[in-house]
Amino acid sequence: MKGLILSGGKGTRLRPITYTNAKQLIPVANKPILFYGIEAIVAAGITDIGIIVGETRDEIIEACGDGSKFGAKFTFIDQPDPLGLAHAVLTAEEFLKDDKFIMYLGDNLIVEGVSRFVEEFEKNAPHCQILLEHVKHPSHFGVAELENGRVVRLVEKPKEPKSDLALVGVYLFDKNIFDAARSIKPSFRNELEITDAIQYLMDKGFTVNPHTITGWWKDTGNVEDLLEANRLVLDSLKPRCDGTVDSKSEIVGKVVLEAGCEIRNSVVRGPAIIGRNVKIVDSYIGSFTSINFDTEIIGSEIEHSVVLANCRLENVGVRIEDSLIGRDVRIGRSDAKPKALRFVLGDNSEVGLI
Ligand code: TTP
Repeated sequence: MKGLILSGGKGTRLRPITYTNAKQLIPVANKPILFYGIEAIVAAGITDIGIIVGETRDEIIEACGDGSKFGAKFTFIDQPDPLGLAHAVLTAEEFLKDDKFIMYLGDNLIVEGVSRFVEEFEKNAPHCQILLEHVKHPSHFGVAELENGRVVRLVEKPKEPKSDLALVGVYLFDKNIFDAARSIKPSFRNELEITDAIQYLMDKGFTVNPHTITGWWKDTGNVEDLLEANRLVLDSLKPRCDGTVDSKSEIVGKVVLEAGCEIRNSVVRGPAIIGRNVKIVDSYIGSFTSINFDTEIIGSEIEHSVVLANCRLENVGVRIEDSLIGRDVRIGRSDAKPKALRFVLGDNSEVGLI
């Protein structure tokens, strides 16, 4: 079997971060989201992996390398425009050939991995297998309707959902998906939808089996879900201290301190991760916070947030919460007159004042 990871796309819901970063490389608990998917596929015994890339191709290729650090072999496949998940499958046809494959959306995180899902596909040999999870708001997702344990219909974001089973971003296919993807028409958003291609398979009498997961799954496509994924992953980390903590600081609960980080006169309350060479001085880092490498937090308080690399937060004065802060960001107080808020914000930035 082969693997196909989709790491192109536009990432409009995560702007402005995605103007300058591939969304699949945004760190969750200081590790790029994409790496969780790669590791899950390799753990299922699949090492020949194609990665679909779009306009952020160079960044993705640089972060992933040739695959050897994951025990895999990567082939990068250019998708000239993000014209849909089924379009991405067609773009990879030459790489996938006649092999069965797992398709994994590069911004999805599944706690229980994909090994059981793959084993079941190999044992029962359907033409396609989809992964489902019971969700609270099915109208936000692609929804599967089942009859007697078989999938009979897939509906993209239904207004009146007939089931609460959402499609998780991992699929298993055999080569019949190529004809299906070639046979469908673009949707109203001008994308070749994978749900339409799978519906086509069902309509032509091919077997599509469901597999329902019990653990959590997150599509990290928006800020709220990304913070929630960060919370869930941090909760599962084992505490570790590879940094230095002075005698005036307090580390409470599950905290990972990565190499070279320094905590001075501060409180860090886990679950939290403090990255390589981060400096925390006279500050409070609260639960469910990930601080990525080379960042400095001085005289400030932050919680339930993700801060990317090389930022400086200094004497902010009020606690920062529920925030995603991109690379190289500066937030601080200044004595300059007149006393005013001064911003340099990218397009689509959001600022919440109190
Ligand atoms: P989506 O989150 O559905 O799409 P997107 O990345 O364009 O994001 P947004 O809706 O915020 O604009 O994509 C799921 C995954 O599949 C994600 O990792 C990007 C990838 N993808 C491709 O590789 N090619 C495509 O044509 C599309 C639509 C997505």
